Amino acid sequence: MRILSGMQPTGLLHLGNYEGALRNWVELQKDNEMFCCIVDWHALTTQYEDPSHIADNARQVAIDYLAAGLDPEGCAIFLQSHVKEHAELFLLLSMITPQGWLERVPTYKDKKDQLDSEDSIPFGLLGYPVLMSADILLYKADSVPVGKDQLPHIELARETVRRFNHLYREVFPEPHGLLREGVEVLPGLDGRKMSKSYGNTILMSDGPDIIRQKVRTMFTDPEKIRMGDPGHPEICPVYAYQRVYQPEKAEEIASGCRAGTLGCVADKKDLAEAIIRALAPVHERRRDLEARPEYVEEILRAGAARARGVAEATMAEVRDAMGLR
Ligand code: ADP
Ligand code: TRP
Repeated sequence: MRILSGMQPTGLLHLGNYEGALRNWVELQKDNEMFCCIVDWHALTTQYEDPSHIADNARQVAIDYLAAGLDPEGCAIFLQSHVKEHAELFLLLSMITPQGWLERVPTYKDKKDQLDSEDSIPFGLLGYPVLMSADILLYKADSVPVGKDQLPHIELARETVRRFNHLYREVFPEPHGLLREGVEVLPGLDGRKMSKSYGNTILMSDGPDIIRQKVRTMFTDPEKIRMGDPGHPEICPVYAYQRVYQPEKAEEIASGCRAGTLGCVADKKDLAEAIIRALAPVHERRRDLEARPEYVEEILRAGAARARGVAEATMAEVRDAMGLR
């Protein structure tokens, strides 16, 4: 399979990004052709007023990718803005994408509701899924490993493929979203979805002390106040993480919580240590990469060159199909 995915460099990656998507990429790279993009133009849809951190964050995301275990020999790791064909395909797809499709996208509706007036909604924010479709279609990707919240975007990419292939000729395959089995949307420290924009994250790069301190502040079942109180693990963010980090112990933890024999303080201490253990190899690789910025830069350059080869070939077909010679 040809696989493409991407993350916005709006900040460093967190455990939701890691568990919800990135770990799946690491698995998939073994048997597939992978393109792992860092979508810096997408980051501008929300950070255009102060873009000063995007370039640095992009390098940090590259380090997160590599520290997670992506192998730059096998997969192309690159910045979207280094491959200009993304912009050209975005422009051409924007001609055939009905505005109504974009206005119905849930992530657009959410972001729009957070802004005060129609005049503060950038055109680029409405066009976000068109740019994402361009990212995917440029590589004729069959599969796109992402978290659940991204599925409406992939559905839109599929509709765009059907429309393009019908209007002109069969150029693109329909991409499929690939979810990581058994992992739902992970909650943040405050119980809402863990997200860079909510400031409720544990970063992949957070060290042991920060992890312990953050896990200590995590929300739990509000009805479980004292140790002996029976808890409801199914609504508890700490339990959501226990299921991911210690699946073998999850049943025991859930019954201890329900019976009131396991208190939240002990549960959190146990979880923090499990996360620290799981991230130890990631942290070790990160330390090594941080000391070699020129190596990371070289990986991004080589990744862009490899991506560009595929992107140029697709664009030649697209221009021809759309009558541009
Ligand atoms: P954020 O909400 O922090 O800005 P992004 O929207 O950039 O995260 O998401 C990058 C990838 O990580 C996507 O594939 C998304 O589905 C996944 N992801 C983000 N947050 C979570 C979460 N809390 N749980 C599971 N997956 C997530
Ligand atoms: N919208 C994705 C997110 O917020 C990021 C993204 C942009 C992406 N282009 C993509 C993901 C292409 C997969 C494929 O996570």
